[in-house]
Amino acid sequence: MIKTRKQLIEAYLKFFKSKKHKVIQNSPLIPEHDPTVLFTTAGMHPLVPFILGAKHPSGKRLVNIQKCIRTGDIEEVGDDIHLTFFEMLGNWSLGDYWKEQAIKYSYEFLTEKKWLGLNPKRLHVSVFKGDRDAPKDTESVEAWRSLGIPKERLWFFGKKDNFWGPAGKTGPCGPSTEIFYDTGKKKCGKKCDPSCSCGKYFEIWNDVFMEYHKTATGYKKLKQRNVDTGMGVERTIAILQNKEIIYDTEIFSPITKKIRELAKISKPNKEQERSIRIISDHIKAACFMLAERIAPSNLDRGYVLRRLIRKSIRHGRLLGMSGFADKIVEEVIRTYDYQHLKRNKSFIFEELKKEERKFSRTLERGLRKFESFASGRKQINGKNAFDLYQSYGFPLEMTIELAKERGLKVDEKGFQKQLKKHQQISRQATEKRFKSGLADSTTETTKLHTATHLLHRVLRDVFGEKVRQHGSHITAERLRFDFNLDRKMTGKEIKKIEKMVNDRIKAALPVKKEEMSLAEAKRTGALAFFGERYGERVFVYSIGNYSKEVCGGPHVKNTKELGKFKIIKEEGIGAGVRRIRAVLE
Ligand code: ALA
Repeated sequence: MIKTRKQLIEAYLKFFKSKKHKVIQNSPLIPEHDPTVLFTTAGMHPLVPFILGAKHPSGKRLVNIQKCIRTGDIEEVGDDIHLTFFEMLGNWSLGDYWKEQAIKYSYEFLTEKKWLGLNPKRLHVSVFKGDRDAPKDTESVEAWRSLGIPKERLWFFGKKDNFWGPAGKTGPCGPSTEIFYDTGKKKCGKKCDPSCSCGKYFEIWNDVFMEYHKTATGYKKLKQRNVDTGMGVERTIAILQNKEIIYDTEIFSPITKKIRELAKISKPNKEQERSIRIISDHIKAACFMLAERIAPSNLDRGYVLRRLIRKSIRHGRLLGMSGFADKIVEEVIRTYDYQHLKRNKSFIFEELKKEERKFSRTLERGLRKFESFASGRKQINGKNAFDLYQSYGFPLEMTIELAKERGLKVDEKGFQKQLKKHQQISRQATEKRFKSGLADSTTETTKLHTATHLLHRVLRDVFGEKVRQHGSHITAERLRFDFNLDRKMTGKEIKKIEKMVNDRIKAALPVKKEEMSLAEAKRTGALAFFGERYGERVFVYSIGNYSKEVCGGPHVKNTKELGKFKIIKEEGIGAGVRRIRAVLE
């Protein structure tokens, strides 16, 4: 019987391996190939270049377990099913099998006794009903009908429910078919169907058929037809364990138990239960962000992290706790088998404590200030909300939550106006940047990938072979590269490195891609420092005779496509590790 998280993950990978899928890495939460999102929200983000047509080193059939962060439902967290951090199992076909096969795989895994053995009569499915951008998905309907799903359990919804992506304005996308499990609970009303979030129908699996590319001018067909699926681990586990509340599964119970112990509350009331759930979800999400060295700040990912931590602190306070975060971290780390959580434990502790200290200093006074702003009013005006943000460190969302608890509104527009006036680098800027997406980012990121290989090689030429990549992150605007060096680089060295990279760009070196096993790659002298992250088969990219590195790609065909390389910042980020930010102009 498959019941636990570990068993589910093992079974899923085994099932798809038996269907000739290759297991790929569980990618970082900071998305590398998709600058249109702040976090990896699904297993497909790291695969965007391959969905668009680049060849993946592990082939056309892939499977993995992926950690994800979604902030879209952050305000729902505290109910029975919503989370910000979760894990997703996914299988992909990159221009290989299509709808019928994908649906058959999902159905087999869910219903066969050997696998999850769920009662097929409890399954409902939804299919895209069609609109002016894409037709009704009759192929999926036929596949479901042939598997015995009757009309009464087949639903048709529009884009909102049955179409995936893109997160930014542009990107790959397509209709989806979703699979729901009927918990047997009573319908919440006449209109209750699988699109309802009351908890009767648990959405467990989403099969997306990516055949379109949304561009600035509309929907175009992609070069290849892809399947992108996602099965939520927490929800599926809840079903397998007969629980209607995600927090009652073993993925959460040790954490919620710890919180109850710390708060000395054995039978929480409804409000306290909500606070316990919020703290357990938010601190868990914070742990995973911190494990990737994201630190709390007022910008981008750091701001999301700050919001999560500060909201936890406030809810902890409602339960009569303070200085509790590190004790919960212990439980989070124990719950999971992620090595990077363990490795970064002291960073997680320190940053959480720092943020707790920082916020605790102003929280009391801020809450008093809030009361004075709220008393006798219907609305917290923009200036006051900004004052709470600026002087007391209240994220806007926290003020909104506090206001909601008292039936008040917050003048968000007024807040934004104040923010702008004070010329803060702000959440508004962040959201604007990420909402607008980045048109055709893949060309830019591809160029920066190749530039990163050049930079890596040049650094080894200048500082010796002991130098190696410690981390790399690329957005459409810049590359970031971490490497070991025990001192600051001099201005002269920076100039020299820039020149050496630019000389290779000017030399118009061809970029060659070869596929081989990891062992072969190492034999040929290709740089490969992230052993655990690679699959069995890898791509080796050579730039002329200059650089040779194992990498998933994609890369440009010739260095002359790159433009001018420029280092914009060099800094230390820890003992013996330097960070370079560079752009192509
Ligand atoms: N990308 C799809 C999802 O996350 C599978 O639902």
